[in-house]
Amino acid sequence: MSPPHTTVADPSVPLPHGEELLHDPILNKGTAFTRSERRALGLEGLLPPHVHRLEEQVARVMDNYRNKQTDLERYIHLVSLQDRNETLFYRVVVDHIEEMMPIIYTPTVGQACQQWGHLFRRPRGLYVAWPDRGRIEAILRNWPHPDVRVIVVTDGERILGLGDQGVGGMGIPVGKLSLYTACAGIDPARTLPVMLDVGTENEGYLRDPLYMGVRQKRVRGKEFDAFVAEFVEGVRRVFPRALLQFEDFGNQNAFRLLEQWRGKVCSFNDDIQGTAAVTLAGLYSSLRLTGKTLRDQKLLFLGAGEAGIGIGDLVVSAMVDEGATLEEARRRCWFVDSHGLVVKSRTGLAEHKLRFAHDAPPAPDFHSALEALSPTAIVGVSTVPRSFDQRVIETLSRMNERPIVFALSNPTSKSECTAEDAYRWSGGRAIFASGSPFPTCHLDGRTFVPGQGNNSYIFPGVGLGVVACQARLVTDRMFSAAARTLASLVLPSDLDLGRIFPALTRIREVSAHIGEAVAEVAFQEGLAGVPRPADVGGMVRAAMWHPVYREYV
Ligand code: NAI
Repeated sequence: MSPPHTTVADPSVPLPHGEELLHDPILNKGTAFTRSERRALGLEGLLPPHVHRLEEQVARVMDNYRNKQTDLERYIHLVSLQDRNETLFYRVVVDHIEEMMPIIYTPTVGQACQQWGHLFRRPRGLYVAWPDRGRIEAILRNWPHPDVRVIVVTDGERILGLGDQGVGGMGIPVGKLSLYTACAGIDPARTLPVMLDVGTENEGYLRDPLYMGVRQKRVRGKEFDAFVAEFVEGVRRVFPRALLQFEDFGNQNAFRLLEQWRGKVCSFNDDIQGTAAVTLAGLYSSLRLTGKTLRDQKLLFLGAGEAGIGIGDLVVSAMVDEGATLEEARRRCWFVDSHGLVVKSRTGLAEHKLRFAHDAPPAPDFHSALEALSPTAIVGVSTVPRSFDQRVIETLSRMNERPIVFALSNPTSKSECTAEDAYRWSGGRAIFASGSPFPTCHLDGRTFVPGQGNNSYIFPGVGLGVVACQARLVTDRMFSAAARTLASLVLPSDLDLGRIFPALTRIREVSAHIGEAVAEVAFQEGLAGVPRPADVGGMVRAAMWHPVYREYV
């Protein structure tokens, strides 16, 4: 058996020595450098004498971590560790994934984005700013690692449910790429977070002397599109094997960018497609509890943005796969936005809502739409906290034996309802999932484990599959396959507790299965860049990086 994939540096490049090595987070082992490595690499005297094992270093990190008073301090502690020693950082995160996911990603990362200019310690990732237009390719060439395989890029306009965070949005690509590595073993030296800074509408930041971004209102329209195009073309030339994930763009840009690029470069939008896949997986698992089919479902969404429309589109294509016509399938998905029910008679609807604008009487608000439509499931993607109130949950529970309630808005403060409210108001009958994590609930002597419809179940595995088979494009069929695979991995013991997603502790196994399913689709669709091996699963697993130290000497 070959050793685990740990080579994070280009082996043809000679190792740095001494202090330079200690300051290279990809190569650094800190106190775990062995005596012979210390002698050969000029490290003697630069480290305290005792050689620690990786497990002992993890224990030290955890001692310090648990002494921190707030989640934000824990975030800073972890990011600082990532800046010093990536292998140790990933060992810590992988071994404590349930505890750390809410710190390195939503909800804590949202706080970090909001305070980016104040928390700043060291830069991470690449900042491509509006004044750099015309020179973007040269900037991409400044990145020190040549073989980038996954890029996450944002312009910071719609960060989680927190709105425009300007340059502080960089926290999201950094966090997402950490999850690619922790959850699916994407080599950290092959990941690249990018912030496209075209300004911000956030007056607070524009007035803040510590704000670190371009101090102007956002560039829009043709100039914005040309800037993104220059970036994407630069990526094609400099990192031709990279998968490009668009992240947290405002919805007036996100749908257009996705349509513009998905057929030309290996790219996807996680807010639209990743969210859709994790939610579809949640629906498939819910059906195991209700005994119904997907075609029986009627979904009512609160929010008709990237997440909502993305989910609607994927649910429709899954219903069509089950034999529904396109029209039938679309009539099973209804949307309420800030102006009420999305119906044909409304004027000025955004392009992405039109396909779900049905011929039906208008309804001014969510509750009246609920009464009129009698859905089987409600999906909150509105960023409006507490909008699934007692009346909404009670009404849905009157209509359904097992009402499906997905309150997906992030961070926790934006969630449409809490897990406890959903269970309490439905008399313990709701099948609940949220975007940000909620704790286990105890109600009338029963225990409920709320599912987290976390995109991290999907995008790392999709990325792994794409990278492993060097797929040329990312397709909807890959996301449907990812959703089906994820749902199939939910255990009966999970369902018994009401949990409709697998435990996060199984995330690397889950990602490997999803990677395999995605690579299979790439082979079937003729999109893979390598010949199909006999063992696709083996190929995917061999591509996974593991957080263990490499022996240098
Ligand atoms: P978006 O900005 O594209 O869409 C928000 C939608 O909510 C818009 O259609 C808007 O009209 C609607 N809305 C706003 N106020 C409303 C009101 N008072 N009543 C009814 N509708 C209202 O944002 P996006 O990307 O769709 O994200 C929405 C939320 O979903 C965010 O909180 C985001 O964090 C969350 N999300 C959760 C995911 C998950 O759980 N896995 C993944 C992606 C997003």
